Amino acid sequence: MPPAYDLVIRNGKIVTAADTFDADVCVRDGRVVALEGHAGPGAREIDATGRLVMPGGIDSHCHIEQMSSAGVVCADDFYSGTVSAAFGGTTTVIPFAAQHRGQSLRQVVRDYHAAAEPKAVVDYAFHLIISDPTEQVLGQELPALIGDGYTSFKIYMTYERLRIADGPLLDILALARRTGALVMVHAENHDMIQWMTERLLEQGLVRPLFHAVSHPRLAESEATNRAISLAELVDVPVLLVHVSAPEAARVIREAQTRGLRIYAETCPQYVMLGADDLDKSGMDGAMFCCSPPPRDAAGQAAIWQGLVNGTFQVFSSDHAPYRFDRTGKLPRGDNTTFKEIANGLPGLETRLPILFSEGVWRGRITVNQFVALGATNHARLYGLYPRKGTIAVGSDADMAIWDPDRRVKLTASLLHDQVGYTPYEGVELTGWPVTVISRGRIVVDQGKLHATRGSGQFLKCAQAEAAKPLGRVVPELATVRRFSDRPLF
Ligand code: URP
Ligand code: ZN
Ligand code: ZN
Repeated sequence: MPPAYDLVIRNGKIVTAADTFDADVCVRDGRVVALEGHAGPGAREIDATGRLVMPGGIDSHCHIEQMSSAGVVCADDFYSGTVSAAFGGTTTVIPFAAQHRGQSLRQVVRDYHAAAEPKAVVDYAFHLIISDPTEQVLGQELPALIGDGYTSFKIYMTYERLRIADGPLLDILALARRTGALVMVHAENHDMIQWMTERLLEQGLVRPLFHAVSHPRLAESEATNRAISLAELVDVPVLLVHVSAPEAARVIREAQTRGLRIYAETCPQYVMLGADDLDKSGMDGAMFCCSPPPRDAAGQAAIWQGLVNGTFQVFSSDHAPYRFDRTGKLPRGDNTTFKEIANGLPGLETRLPILFSEGVWRGRITVNQFVALGATNHARLYGLYPRKGTIAVGSDADMAIWDPDRRVKLTASLLHDQVGYTPYEGVELTGWPVTVISRGRIVVDQGKLHATRGSGQFLKCAQAEAAKPLGRVVPELATVRRFSDRPLF
């Protein structure tokens, strides 16, 4: 008799966002086909005694093989980026297909596919970045792409070459409402940042530390409040990405309490790092420059509180990998001013181990919250659930088997990205993914890679339930309805 299953994971403790239970996981043709005690034989078997069997992580905010608006190319391509993700327990990534001004969105998407297809070792979808909302883009390309499975896109309220003013942002939000797409917002007040930057540079205050000074919390909370107000006017959900400031988290919480569909993401750097890290000697502070910047201990505590109380649904890496040299972080070497430092930190591989150790092991969150924040909620928000983000009959067999007691000291040489440094050098963590499985294939086991280049598959995202409008009309629009049958937008 041939074995009943391709793979059986025995004796592990299965953890989903909702439950923790003992069962064997049975896999056939890349999917979970049974969860039962004393399963029949598998062609391959893994003994997970003493281990946690969790859904493979989903990292829904990472920049891979992307060119920044300043023309700096990421250190990671789709091979190193996805290998690094896999070693950190992540089996699905959602990077960006980033439009620069003047580019056709269709062509951008084709280019990212061409880059990812031969290299990715885990599955991937794409968000879009919209920086040039022309009539062609909003009228044709974007609606067609949303229909084709690119159902989320990011817009920036800051960065000279990316930012979208409030008027076009309303057009974009109205389009998202019509098409069921989810808009991700980088919320910082551009003029505040630019004004602060000019004042600092005038005084010769150019060191990396001043990056944090030039991006005050108020810039984040003001723009967050504005983004939410614009979304409320149009009655469409939005997701605030990489939230760092407690004031911004409060604005989000308050909107959620009013019943609005406002979602939020935070990242490891905002619970692990502080603005004082940007004050390291020489140019070393540049390793910690990202936007928005890390804040302080009270800020970290507030972000943890938001993870605990549900203000944040997703914990992503915002992996934006730039080497610590002239090709990346420091275009003018030691003369690089804070304004010129490439923004972003690496983190695909360290994201989940940090959340597990600092969250679960330290008793801040439950292991089920860990799964929700690291996998399930990403799948739900971006239209991949239940294929991804859970362990259930019918789901893809994407799993990470964690040793909850394994102690690991982070150091750059342990990691598999191409960045050459980690902002978490020397940090000691407890808990590590020892075996990582993507569609039933073992991609990483005991520190060894088993996946081949290009074995990851592209995932089309559905329009998520979470992205649906509430149907709440602001009073002024109710007035319009008395005079016109035609919707205003
Ligand atoms: O500094 C950051 N976060 N760089 C990556 C780009 C972005 O805004 O997410
Ligand atoms: Zn951003
Ligand atoms: Zn980002």
